[in-house]
Amino acid sequence: MKITLSAIKADIGSVGGHIQPTKSLVDRVKQFLAENSPGLLIDTQVSYTGDDIAILFTHDKGVSNEQVHKLAWDAFVAGTELAKAEGLYGAGQDLLKDAFSGTIKGMGPAVAEMEFDERPGEPFLFFAADKTDPGAYNLPLYLAFTDPMYCPGLILSPKMTAGFRFTIMDVSCTDADRVIQLNAPEDLYDIAALLRDPERFVVESIHSRSDNEIAVSVSTTRLHNIAGKYVGKDDPVMLVRVQSSFPATGEVLGPFCITPLVAGFMRGSHTGPLMPVKRNSPISYFDGPPIVSCTAYCIRNGKFTEPSDAFDHPFWDEIRRQATRKALNIRRQGFFGAAMLPYSELEYGGIVDKMKSLDERFVVRK
Ligand code: F6R
Ligand code: MG
Ligand code: MG
Repeated sequence: MKITLSAIKADIGSVGGHIQPTKSLVDRVKQFLAENSPGLLIDTQVSYTGDDIAILFTHDKGVSNEQVHKLAWDAFVAGTELAKAEGLYGAGQDLLKDAFSGTIKGMGPAVAEMEFDERPGEPFLFFAADKTDPGAYNLPLYLAFTDPMYCPGLILSPKMTAGFRFTIMDVSCTDADRVIQLNAPEDLYDIAALLRDPERFVVESIHSRSDNEIAVSVSTTRLHNIAGKYVGKDDPVMLVRVQSSFPATGEVLGPFCITPLVAGFMRGSHTGPLMPVKRNSPISYFDGPPIVSCTAYCIRNGKFTEPSDAFDHPFWDEIRRQATRKALNIRRQGFFGAAMLPYSELEYGGIVDKMKSLDERFVVRK
């Protein structure tokens, strides 16, 4: 049976700053979907990570389906009305366009989708991150899908020895999708050369080379490219199919132990460690740290099993402590050097005027 998985997320308002949505807001989105989806969808899950509400759909309409995207858009619009009525902060923040026009891509919400023939047991992981951007997944994906030091399946499983094909997007190109396909392991150094720069090159998808099946889909939206100004970080979602010819769940989770330093954190302008958190976690210290949640599911005929919270385990408490120490360490140097993002990442914010007025006051000494 061919199934489409669609993950669509948006920040439509939150309580107490950019922290988390209210329960009533999440319930409103759920209620809207329950009332308006019959006949279109097979199943739905709604959760939040920081100030972002994520909708996960299963259906048989394929990727980029207009009706499915419109349903998600309308659910976020309905939620925004409640967020405004409740007085939530940043109500409708990620809904950057007034009217729906065929696809939700390019309208603000982040989208990751994949279509595949459902396996007899179809395990997959749904990741949602807040206070960071899509390049945050570059390193964990590189390690899980190319490096036997992190993914022993690459040497132990005959189904994985052919390696994986990476589709990488140049997110600086705003008029069209500019992508390159590279094969691991032969093109490993080229993949690394691109993924080292997560603000410019982002993994969009990964396919198995043994059976050509899709393994990974990442949302690649850059909000500032749509809005032309700073309107929050892009808070990416990701779908990863696991087991059999794909890495095992634990092989995909493993690299998140590194808590890599990523772009985001306070005002989307800093560098901070990516902390693996439980599902439905809020934001706290320094509007961060950047967080990522992971929910594991199986699906059968498109129906979700109950969710399993992959980072809700005593093991990850120690990793969270390490991330806290890392966050405190980098925060000690405030705005200085690597703690704050380079000008190219800040240029959509208010600093542009400051730099312009300072520039006029420079003199060239004779
Ligand atoms: C980062 C984020 C927050 C805000 C900050 C200022 O993605 O959402 O760190 O940038 O709280 O928010 P405003 O400008 O809304 O007061
Ligand atoms: Mg926000
Ligand atoms: Mg957010």
